[in-house]
Parts: sequence; structure tokens; C-alpha cells
Amino acid sequence: MKKLSVKLGILFFLIIFGLITFMFFFLHEGIVESRVEEELFSLQSRGNSHRAILEKHFNKDIIDHVVLMESESNTDVVITDKNRKVLASSAPSSTFNNYLKSPVSNLPRDGEIVEDKWDKEPFISTVSPIEKNGKLVGLVYMFQDTASVHSLINRLNEHFVLSGWISVILTFIIIIFLSKGITKPLIKMKEATSQISKGHFDVILPKTSDDELGDLAKSIELLASNLNYLTEERNEFLASISHELRTPLTYIKGYADILHKRELPIEAQKKYLEIIVDETNRLSDLIKELFELAKYDKNSFEIQKEPIDLNQFFKKIEQKLSPAFIEKNMNLSAYCPPNLVIKADSHRLEQILFNLLDNSMKYSQNGAQVFLKAWKSKDLIHIIVRDNGKGIPDKDLPHIFNRFYRVDKSRTRTLGGTGLGLAIVKELVQAHGAEILVKSKENIGTEFELIFRGD
Ligand SMILES: Nc1ncnc2c1ncn2[C@@H]1O[C@H](COP(=O)(O)OP(=O)(O)OP(=O)(O)O)[C@@H](O)[C@H]1O
Ligand SMILES: [Mg+2]
Repeated sequence: MKKLSVKLGILFFLIIFGLITFMFFFLHEGIVESRVEEELFSLQSRGNSHRAILEKHFNKDIIDHVVLMESESNTDVVITDKNRKVLASSAPSSTFNNYLKSPVSNLPRDGEIVEDKWDKEPFISTVSPIEKNGKLVGLVYMFQDTASVHSLINRLNEHFVLSGWISVILTFIIIIFLSKGITKPLIKMKEATSQISKGHFDVILPKTSDDELGDLAKSIELLASNLNYLTEERNEFLASISHELRTPLTYIKGYADILHKRELPIEAQKKYLEIIVDETNRLSDLIKELFELAKYDKNSFEIQKEPIDLNQFFKKIEQKLSPAFIEKNMNLSAYCPPNLVIKADSHRLEQILFNLLDNSMKYSQNGAQVFLKAWKSKDLIHIIVRDNGKGIPDKDLPHIFNRFYRVDKSRTRTLGGTGLGLAIVKELVQAHGAEILVKSKENIGTEFELIFRGD
């Protein structure tokens, strides 16, 4: 369960540890080098100052004096003639024999380094020339025991090891906090998602930071609430379907039973058979609409937009539907400015308008006026279907696009409604990227407005 934090921790640690080691290595090398350089420089300066005195008086007294001075300090001096024959030495000269052998030619005035390998040799050393009237008369060799350099470097190493440990410990502490800060919310989210997968949608994640982790937590909460909504809606939908299917089936079964068991006069038989046919039609309509909706849900249907001349389109609709309106003693009037072109799927647009006009016809009384009207404003094309029928109560308005929602269940049943018409309309409108609005007043009328983008 904590695998991620361990992985993160190890990764951070390796990166930081690698960086620290790299930096320490360079720092260590740099410090040691400059320290040895400093030692050599001061050794050479000391040799040069001896040389200055010896150039003034190159005699035994002064040579002894210089050697005496050096024997008191932690450096050593060897003074030779120009052929490197030892004239005096602050320590037994045999110790330094190896260094005196090295050839000295074209020695610069300020001398040079004879030995600088502090880590291999017991001494580091420099040499300075003693000149008189431009001619070499002797040499001042200076020596320093490398033990002091070694002890200095040992102390330096101790410091490095100590600070190395401190940074390792600090890194560990930082890593623990950091990986907890990242992995803890992740673990919480993982728990939340497994809760969701078990069907518990009421997950609440602690408010974390304003970063990607916070966004992820918010998305998970949103996902849970959407899933919750969908599950509820599905359950409701299934309950409604079974109810809707059961009602006509009950009628069919009931009347079929009566016809089967009883001797009925022919008139009554005809009446019952008519009911059975009606209910069977209802059932087949219902199933057809359900299939249609399921198809839209899966987005497996395609909208094939084409330019449609709305004026012509309205005329055809008027022709098709007018007889039905006239039969109900109603009037359908369609208005559309000429040359108004809309880009839509003509079959689907027809389906939308048929459903809306069918509602106007079903839910209005004799003598009602129904208008179908279109116009363009800016880039938008508006189409309205308006009737002066019975209207929809305010409390029902927000729900009329829900599946199986009917305002007056018992009355609409006699009118043959399944409550799926507007749900289908809404899906089709949305598939066009358009919008549908509704305004209605009870006993005054209803207006549906479709808003299509002009492009
Ligand atoms: N123009 C309208 N006037 C008054 N009420 C309406 C109007 N249009 C819709 N309604 C109300 O909204 C409800 C839902 O309409 P919808 O078209 O979805 O279902 P339906 O007409 O009952 O059934 P279907 O259209 O599936 O045959 C209707 O039952 C009706 O109560
Ligand atoms: Mg309808």
C-alpha cells in the first residue's frame, strides 16, 4: 500500500545523495588543492626571504643563523652552494638528499617548487636561488613535513563526513514529509475510488492544496456525485419502464381473459378488442421510443447536417399536419421569412417539430391556435412552437424533459402519451448543438423555443 512513497523516497534519496556526493567530492578536492598551494606558497616566500638575507651576506655566520631560525619552526631549510653541495641544514641533510638531486637549471628568480606530491612524499619542498652580481652562488631549499598537511586533510575529511551524515539525515526527514504529503492524499483517493466501485458514492476527500492533487480530488468527488446521479436515474428509469410496460399489459391480459372466458355480445367483444389493439399500439410505440432513446444515449446515431430552406420545410410540415389539426377543430399556422437557411438533419428536425406540434395538439382544446414560427437574429436561428392550450403548471415545468414525465398522468394516458416525446426532443436538439427553452402559463398556453447556431 505504501509502495509509491517508498519508491518516491528511494528515488529522491538517490538523486539527493548523488548530488551531495558529487558536490562534496569537488569541494574536497578544491579545498585540499588550494590548501597545499597555500603551504607551498608560504614555503617559497620563506625561502625567498632567507635568500634575500643570504644574498647580502653569504657567509657562515648568516647561514648558521638562518638554519638556527628554521630549526625552531616546523619547516626545514637546507642551504647549498651552486653545485648543490650542502653547506648547512636544519635537520640531518640525509633526509632531504633525494630532493637535492633534482636538476636546477634556469631557476626563476622567485624560485620553484621541487616537490608537491603531498599524498605520496614525506615532504613538500621549494627552492630559491642565491645570486651575486647576476651569478648563481647557492640555493635555499625549504621543506615542510607532509604529516601536517595529512592531519589537516584528515580533519577536513572528518568535517565532510559529519556534514555528509547531517545532510543524509535531513534528506531523510524531508523525504518522509514530502512523500507523505504526496502519497497520503493519493492513498485517500485510492480508498475513495474503491469505495465508489463498491457503490458508496458519498465520498468526501479532505481539501488538499490548490495543485494537481487538489484537482484530482475534486474530479473524484465530481465523478462520485455524477455516478450517484446516474445510478439513481437508471433505477428510476427502470422502475418507470416496468411500470409503463405493466399497465398496457394488464389491460391486454384483462380484456383478453374476459373475451376468452365469457360469452359476450358482439358489440362488447368489439369494444374490448379495440382496447386491446389500442394498448398493443401503445406498447409498440413505447418500445420504439425506448429504442430510439437508447440509441441516442449511446451516441451511436449520426446527425447529418445539410442546408435546409426553412420556408419550404415549414410548408411541408403544415401540409402534413394540417388535416389532423383541422379534424380536432384547431388551426396550425406556420411563418418563416423567405430564404432562411438552417443547417440541420432534416429527418431529425422534422421529428423534433412533429413531437412539439403533437403535444400542442394533444394538450389544447377545440378551437386552439398553434403557431410555428422562425426568424434569424444575428448568428442565431430561432424556431418557436406556440399554442394557447392548457399550459403546464410552474411546478412541473422543470421536469417535463425527463423521461416518462407527464403532468397529468391519468388524463394524458387517455391521450396516448408515454412521456418520452420531450426527452427525445431534448436529445435531438442537443445533438444538433442547439438549445431548447420552454415558457408556459396554465390555461394560457405554452411556447417551446429552439435556438440553432446559424453556421
Ligand atoms: N404544449 C403543451 N401544452 C401542455 N402540456 C404539455 C405540452 N407539451 C408537453 N406538455 C406536458 O409535458 C408532458 C411531457 O410531454 P412529452 O411529449 O414528453 O410526453 P407525452 O406527450 O405525454 O408522451 P409522448 O410524446 O411520448 O407520446 C406531457 O405529458 C404534458 O403533460
Ligand atoms: Mg408528447
